[in-house]
This record gives sequence, structure tokens and C-alpha cells, in this order.
Amino acid sequence: MILDPSVFHCPTQIHMGAGVYKQLPRLLNEIGANRIFIGTDKAVESTDFFSRVRGQLDQTDMEYVIFTDIEPDPSVKTVNAGYKLCQDHGAAAMIAIGGGSTIDVCKAVGILSTNGGKISDYAGNHKFSIPPLPLLAVPTTAGTGSEVSGSCVITDTDNGVKMSIRHLTLNPARFAILDPLALATLPAHVAAHSGLDAFVHAFESFVSRRATLLTDSINLQAISLIAGNIRQFYANRENTEAGLRMLCGSTLAGIGFTHTGTGNIHCISRHIGARFHLSHGLSNAIMLPHVARFNGVACPEKYRQVAAAMGENTWGLSANEAVDRAVAAITRMCGDLDIPGGLRQLGAAKEDLVEIVERSFKENYNAWNPRHTSRKDFEELITAAY
Ligand SMILES: [Fe+2]
Repeated sequence: MILDPSVFHCPTQIHMGAGVYKQLPRLLNEIGANRIFIGTDKAVESTDFFSRVRGQLDQTDMEYVIFTDIEPDPSVKTVNAGYKLCQDHGAAAMIAIGGGSTIDVCKAVGILSTNGGKISDYAGNHKFSIPPLPLLAVPTTAGTGSEVSGSCVITDTDNGVKMSIRHLTLNPARFAILDPLALATLPAHVAAHSGLDAFVHAFESFVSRRATLLTDSINLQAISLIAGNIRQFYANRENTEAGLRMLCGSTLAGIGFTHTGTGNIHCISRHIGARFHLSHGLSNAIMLPHVARFNGVACPEKYRQVAAAMGENTWGLSANEAVDRAVAAITRMCGDLDIPGGLRQLGAAKEDLVEIVERSFKENYNAWNPRHTSRKDFEELITAAY
């Protein structure tokens, strides 16, 4: 996932605006594809937005198949089933309409379609070389940034391992369709959790040890867009102005963290989510204020910029006060979105924390996280989040 920091790369063509889904037939024509694989999930398939997309395709001579069996944390089995359907149909392009899981499955199916083999063959960095089937990604959450990120995550359920398949230049979608109409039926809590995931991408990327001048610009704008609109979007997902700003923020954050990696929030939340069966976004949201507080001493001037991007007045503040201001703004944002105060409230058992500390420490995110983090630090962070 991590590039040479001197290189900036975003191969995805991004279309944005309410109703931009109507461009899909034209873009498919541009690719020269008229046999299409559509990946989605059953909830999205039942929405008015999905019917509208079908309506657009039905006005053309394009033939499409719809694959709906996509679960959260998608498995190798799901990818294989999608791949079979895609092959049987002879698809020349794919449309993913859904959240990060759906986009990730389509990315994996696209890799298998042109490279053959098993998806586990491609786990790691740059393990495939033939461009996958062209993917048009229509995110229905403003969260993962998978439409522009260079990775997809697939779970090998037989071995209990999450595989990350990364290729900076070949794995992002060919087109991202950022249409706030796709967000209208999102449940409020999913809007909050996925929106905070996007905030965490931008925040961790901004303070990353691998941040560059270009990723800084992108991430600050992402922080501003997300922090300035997430409350309105949480309150009303039919607010297309807030929805579009959230989508642009999450896509920018996806471009940012693709270049820098994430940090200790993501490091810890992976294990919290798996152990306590919490969504990725909620796990991140629980850890966000604690890791933000911990990392502040490493880069206080960056925290001043974070606070300002979140709409806080930082004039005349000392470095320490600027850190406090940013952490307070972050904590208030989580509270306004009804994020529980700790893992205890979510039914987590305290004795399970020991294993999470060990696993987090072994991940060794010290290459990216701005403050070096010891085993004891992890213990304190995770205990604070309990
Ligand atoms: Fe994330």
C-alpha cells in the first residue's frame, strides 16, 4: 500500500455530483464494454438508487448480471462465487455499488478475471501485473475510500487471516462515481461510523511519518469537509450537499492514506473489531480520541492545523493548547455522533484486552505512527478506551 514518498499517484477518474450516476452508460461505452458484472449487497439492491442505476442500463443494449452475496469482511468464498459469475457472463467491466466490502470484492474479482489463479496468490504488495477488469465504483457510504485506494481486504476464513491485496497503480477503480443520491438510505449509525472512519484516514495520514506536502493538502481538505459536514449528514442522509462533501472528503482521505499508510487507531481497531464484533468504523471511533491525545506531543503544529481545519480558533494558542483544542474538537465530534464512551459500554470483557495489546504491539506501526509506541503505551491506550 505504501508508495515511495516522493511519488504521488491517483489513477482514478472521479465524477461527482447529485445524479452523476447517469454517466455510467457513457463511461462503459468509453471502455467499450457491454457485458457488465454488477457487485452489490441485498440491502443496496432494494434501494431506489439501485433501481435508478438499472433503469439507466436498461435503456442501452448492455447485458449485466447482478451479484448480491457480499457480506461485511468478505471472504475468499465470496470472491470465488463472484468470479465464477463474472466469468460465466463474460463480463468486460464491473460496477460496484456499495460500501468498502462490495468495492473490495469487485476489485478481487477483477484481479482474478485477468490474472487467473487464486486470490491468495496476490496477497501483499504488487503481486499481480496484468491490469484487472475496469471497475466503476459507486460508493454508498462516505467512508472507506476504497474507490481510490490501492488495496482490497479479503478474509481467508479457513485460516482466519485477513489478506490485504495491494497495488498502488492497478488496484484503484478506473472510475469513482461520487453521487450523494446513493447515500440517501444509509442508516444514521452507519453514516456516523463510516464517516468517522474517513476522518481517521485523513487524520492518521496527515500526522503520519510518511506524510508529504501533497498528502498534507489533500488530508487537511478532507478533515475540513468531513468535520464540517458529518453532523448534518448524520442528522439527514438525504441532505445531498452534506452527502457530496462527505463523499469528496472520504475519497480525498482514501488518496491520502494510500500514500502514507494509517497509524495506531487502525492498528488497534483491527483487533478490537475482530474480538468484539464491532464494525471497522465504530472500532476506529472508539480509539480516535485516545490515540489523538497520545500522538499530540509528536507533532503539535500539525494538531494546530487539524484544529483550524475543524473550524476551531487557534489564534494565539501555545503548541500544547493547540493539541488540547484539536483533541477537544475530535472528542466533541464523536460525542455529537453518539459514539459510546468506551468498550465496556459495548459489552467487551476486560480480560480480552491483554490479547489486543499483544496483537497491536506486534503489528509494529511505528514506521508510520508519529509517536513511537511501546507495549506499555498500547496497554494504556486500550485500557483508556475500555
Ligand atoms: Fe479505515
